Amino acid sequence: MSAILIRGGTVVTAEGEFRNDVLVEGEQIAAVGPDLDAPAGARIIDAGGAYVMPGGIDTHTHMELPFMGTVASEDFFTGTSAAAAGGTTTCIDFVIPGPQQPVMDAWADWNGWAEKAACDFSFHVAITWWDETVERDMRKLCREHGVNSFKHFMAYKGAIMADDETLVNSFKTAAQEGALCTVHAENGELVATLQQDIYDKGIHGPEGHPLSRPPKVEGEAANRAIRIADVLGVPLYVVHTSCIDSLQAITRARLDGQMVFGEVLAQHLVIDDSVYRNPDWDKAAHYVMSPPFRSKKHQSALWRGLQAGMLQTTATDHCCFCTPQKRMGVDDFRKIPNGTGGIEDRMSVLWQHGVNTGRLTPSQFVAATSSNAAKIFNIFPKKGAIMPGADADVVIWDPKLTRTISKDTHHQNIDFNIYEGMEITGNAAITLSRGMVVWEDGELKTQRGRGQYVKRPCHAKYWDAIAKRNALAEPTPVSRTRPVE
Ligand code: URP
Ligand code: ZN
Ligand code: ZN
Repeated sequence: MSAILIRGGTVVTAEGEFRNDVLVEGEQIAAVGPDLDAPAGARIIDAGGAYVMPGGIDTHTHMELPFMGTVASEDFFTGTSAAAAGGTTTCIDFVIPGPQQPVMDAWADWNGWAEKAACDFSFHVAITWWDETVERDMRKLCREHGVNSFKHFMAYKGAIMADDETLVNSFKTAAQEGALCTVHAENGELVATLQQDIYDKGIHGPEGHPLSRPPKVEGEAANRAIRIADVLGVPLYVVHTSCIDSLQAITRARLDGQMVFGEVLAQHLVIDDSVYRNPDWDKAAHYVMSPPFRSKKHQSALWRGLQAGMLQTTATDHCCFCTPQKRMGVDDFRKIPNGTGGIEDRMSVLWQHGVNTGRLTPSQFVAATSSNAAKIFNIFPKKGAIMPGADADVVIWDPKLTRTISKDTHHQNIDFNIYEGMEITGNAAITLSRGMVVWEDGELKTQRGRGQYVKRPCHAKYWDAIAKRNALAEPTPVSRTRPVE
């Protein structure tokens, strides 16, 4: 069995920082402690001056997604390789059935596409429509395929939007199975109306995109999903929280004792809505994603939400469309494929703007980029941990390594980079994926197809807590006499 001894680094976990060596044997971490002996033949990596952290988990990616009349340019091999270059070793992608498409057909499609993944991956499954076959398939996915989270797009009317009937049925089924519900929180009806109004006023360029998706539209959907989840007794995870309105909804629910989690995208923390006012059409269209980039006051609130633990995870929503694809909407902003990339840059952007600015400690960084996701999606401590028995998904993070983010040097399969020109100090020097060095000295060493599907069992611990909370509201039967006629 191959062995690697990572010597002399500072191990950072969500709990703290410790000067320890880490011994990797085969695909797992075998030991963590001071002055470990190297087994015969082991490779020794000197991690002096570096941090040794669990590989990043990106909870929200869309590799090769068919969407808005085209297909995302990043595939599972190129995307998971770019992830490794940035220290991310697991991504949770989405199986998204089309309207009326059997869920298990979509499941088979995505599993086939993901066979080329270089690093480990898992799947949330979107519930986009409803009948008894969908309910049956949700139960099958939970019980046989290791799916513990279902996604609901409250936007994209006429395509993959889940209406309230679908939300209610799906949330109820998820609650019974012990799965988690996730939502893209934007009111699709309002978006459609506002898009038409804005188009009719003669605004056809990318600047129309954020106008049609204001923060209130996100806040309405977040509040609605939170209330539905509360009534049905299921934990809720709000993806790509982008504004004060939805952050406040999540915060309120959490302070009220409801099991609600919030995800924030690295790009929403550092890029503001001025990008849509760029007079260069291509440059403005590159940033068309939903929810859109917001003004700086929303950004500051998101940082505070992350610091205060109201938002637990950081993701990318990595969904790449190249410039010619974006130009599908050259005459109509509603036709610009929605999505931005960033899987390679998430951790370094978070380090630069989070740790280097003093907003986050290295431990909080690990929690927000890896461990919290592993706990919420029930793959901890296989993932998100530096401890014996954990998968050897390890990043040796050099806090002094500098780079300038650019499309010319990135490994993502897209012809621009939304962070172009951003200066970074702090980067993955070496990345290990299940014991294999996949990124070292600026060179990718990933292998097509080595990534494995990660099963995520439903976990009952939330449901015990929820049952207790809901027990307070148990109806008391009333015995009453019938009125005499
Ligand atoms: O604009 C985005 N976010 N595109 C990907 C699909 C989604 O909404 O997550
Ligand atoms: Zn979304
Ligand atoms: Zn998404």
